[in-house]
Amino acid sequence: MLAFVRRLRTVLQKSGHGAESRATSSLRLMAGVVAAAAAGLLAAAAPAFSHETLKLDAPKPVLASTPPMGWNSWNKFSCNVSEQLVRQQADAMAASGMKEAGYRYIVIDDCWQKSRDADGNIVADPERFPGGIQALADYVHSKGLKFGLYSDAGSLTCGGRPGSAGREFQDARQYAKWGVDYLKYDWCSTGPRNAEAAYTIMAKALRESGRDIVLSICEWGDNHPERWAAPIGHLWRTTGDIFDGWKGTKDWSHGMTDILDFQVERWRDSGPNAWNDPDMLEVGNGGMTTTEYESHFSLWAMLAAPLIAGNDLSKMDADTRRILTNADVIAIDQDPLGQQARRIWKQGELEIWARPLKGGEHAVVLFNRSAMPAGMSVDWDQLNLPAGLKADVKDLWSKKVTRHVHGRFGGTVASHGVLMVRITPAL
Ligand code: GLA
Repeated sequence: MLAFVRRLRTVLQKSGHGAESRATSSLRLMAGVVAAAAAGLLAAAAPAFSHETLKLDAPKPVLASTPPMGWNSWNKFSCNVSEQLVRQQADAMAASGMKEAGYRYIVIDDCWQKSRDADGNIVADPERFPGGIQALADYVHSKGLKFGLYSDAGSLTCGGRPGSAGREFQDARQYAKWGVDYLKYDWCSTGPRNAEAAYTIMAKALRESGRDIVLSICEWGDNHPERWAAPIGHLWRTTGDIFDGWKGTKDWSHGMTDILDFQVERWRDSGPNAWNDPDMLEVGNGGMTTTEYESHFSLWAMLAAPLIAGNDLSKMDADTRRILTNADVIAIDQDPLGQQARRIWKQGELEIWARPLKGGEHAVVLFNRSAMPAGMSVDWDQLNLPAGLKADVKDLWSKKVTRHVHGRFGGTVASHGVLMVRITPAL
């Protein structure tokens, strides 16, 4: 079934991301409807959408003053999730240095659900989660970590499991009872639903659940979430899915640099407790080089992106661990000002991205997409700094500090690589 839904989405998505709004929504809708009909589930799950006028009374709880950090099962494991896997990843997060680096959430993506019981309660797959979700959440919490789940605003999830449409309050109460701290809420099989209204209902349900639960909105940027998502969710996807590659489009997924390009105009929309989400990390999954993964991680930090690792934490090689736990790069992502980077200069395949940091510092990435190394530099006036200003410049990958630099800073940037620096005005 999953393969069928995926294939249908593939066949229908020929329009590319630029035209994605309606095209992607409707193809996902069609895929969902066909899947639902095939499963004979449509009648059982069909909610009435005409009364979606709920208002949010309680303000959004402040649960993400900096971008959430964690791990999610989807990029590496797809539907192949189990309680054993989740325990193993929680163990690895706690033991590998990831927890010390700031990663907190262990999130099970699609396919943990199986059915609903006679009372309509969502039921986890009993073969894959024989101990139940509550025990698993307890285990994750016992490691000093937080626990997340996935659902969908439609009748079915993208993987064809039961969605939350019409069951939002019941599901939110269940999540709270289990000890869920984070909900990723997807957009497959949503029929004629209005996205703002649908996400408002789940936000209200979570806020009334009695537990603080981060709401991660995942409608792929199709319905202009930048116009409505900030009072509703803590983060929202801006694009279709990422895949583990440098560039290109496969089905409804995009390579890392394509996803980056979709973020260029998005810098105005994001800030503390309301983040743009350019999708989860692929670092360590094998489809890019070490240099490319350093670029991916650096650029996501510049974007103030949620840092949600998507690799197998129990089998990280030294480079993967080094990249994911680079404290200097993470500090840029987590800077309290929360200002997403802008691309301030581009010439061919060379680009400069910059973001101001709290206290008058700046983070800069010189990014070389070309096949050859390139000499690159940033001028202080491109950062609106006086040309005579002396600053200390730290290279966040080599860790080298250059003191009392004035006017400009640069160096040789490897093919597909970055030079990422933190610029601190000297006293
Ligand atoms: C959609 C989402 C992905 C993932 C899958 C699960 O494609 O965008 O991040 O959650 O569904 O089926």
